[in-house]
Amino acid sequence: MAESVTSGRPIVVVTRRLPAPVEFCLAELFDARLNADDTPSDAASLAAALRTADGVLATVTDRLDAEVLATTRRKAAIVANFGVGHDNIDVVAASAAGLVVTNTPGVLTDDTADLAIALILAVARRVGEGERHVRAGAWSGWRPTHMMGARVTGRTLGIVGFGRIGRAVAARARHGFGMPVLVHTRTRVGRQELAAVGGRQVDTIEELLAGSDFVSLHCPATPRTRHLIDAARLAVMRPGAFLVNTARGDVVDERALVEALRDGVIAGAGLDVYEHEPAVAPELVAMDNVVLLPHLGSATLETRVAMGMRAVDNLAAFFAGADPPDRVV
Ligand code: DGY
Repeated sequence: MAESVTSGRPIVVVTRRLPAPVEFCLAELFDARLNADDTPSDAASLAAALRTADGVLATVTDRLDAEVLATTRRKAAIVANFGVGHDNIDVVAASAAGLVVTNTPGVLTDDTADLAIALILAVARRVGEGERHVRAGAWSGWRPTHMMGARVTGRTLGIVGFGRIGRAVAARARHGFGMPVLVHTRTRVGRQELAAVGGRQVDTIEELLAGSDFVSLHCPATPRTRHLIDAARLAVMRPGAFLVNTARGDVVDERALVEALRDGVIAGAGLDVYEHEPAVAPELVAMDNVVLLPHLGSATLETRVAMGMRAVDNLAAFFAGADPPDRVV
């Protein structure tokens, strides 16, 4: 295994600041090159990291595309991604180049599911709008017709993608809010798994969209799911329905979403992720029936530490000559 000549320990370039306990652990185990300023990496600095380090601890905003991965004189043999999603990495190119890629599954399920529920509640009950109203000093007092929203309890939730997070959202919706659950996913879901959340699997996404009051997206970003929710599919949704996205921005055609919201095709949206992150369409920013969050799904201290430790475990296993537990390729 390639190791730093100076310390005898593997050099690991860490592309962003990480919670203190994780950085402490990295510094204990490796010759860790931390990013004290939290400066985002561009293609040139990622390529440089691949040339100088034995391993790179990257995050979901680091674009490790085929060109970056093909950097000449690459030294790194592993990229440990801090994130369950790994659409920032061209895993086909990585695999072809003999580069190991790992991710951090499992540890962010509950917090991301909680945030999806928070968005459902926030957009239906006008939480962001109400908060802005009070802060602006515009509130003139309680009145029966003020800021009426839409009921969540008992309404139907459609879940697109039924992995760990989709299932956790379904359980919360069913057991916390009595919501009937529709599921659409590529594979057949077991009867017991569906029964646990009172769910019904539908064969087409159109059936799910037409039958749901809330639609929550939980599929990975792949070429197949790019713009899965486009103008035609938004048109199938109920006019009073809400779309929630805590998955990846490009699962939704953001232009089409802007138009659907503007034209009243759907009632509102709760978004944690965006097609051109961190840019957010200005039209969305101007809309009161949209709740916008800055990609906070996994953002609790507990989960961010757990994600970091998972990345550390993957690196440690790899440098010890074992198969990393969360190997993607
Ligand atoms: C992920 O892990 O993929 C999230 O988007 C960031 O936590």
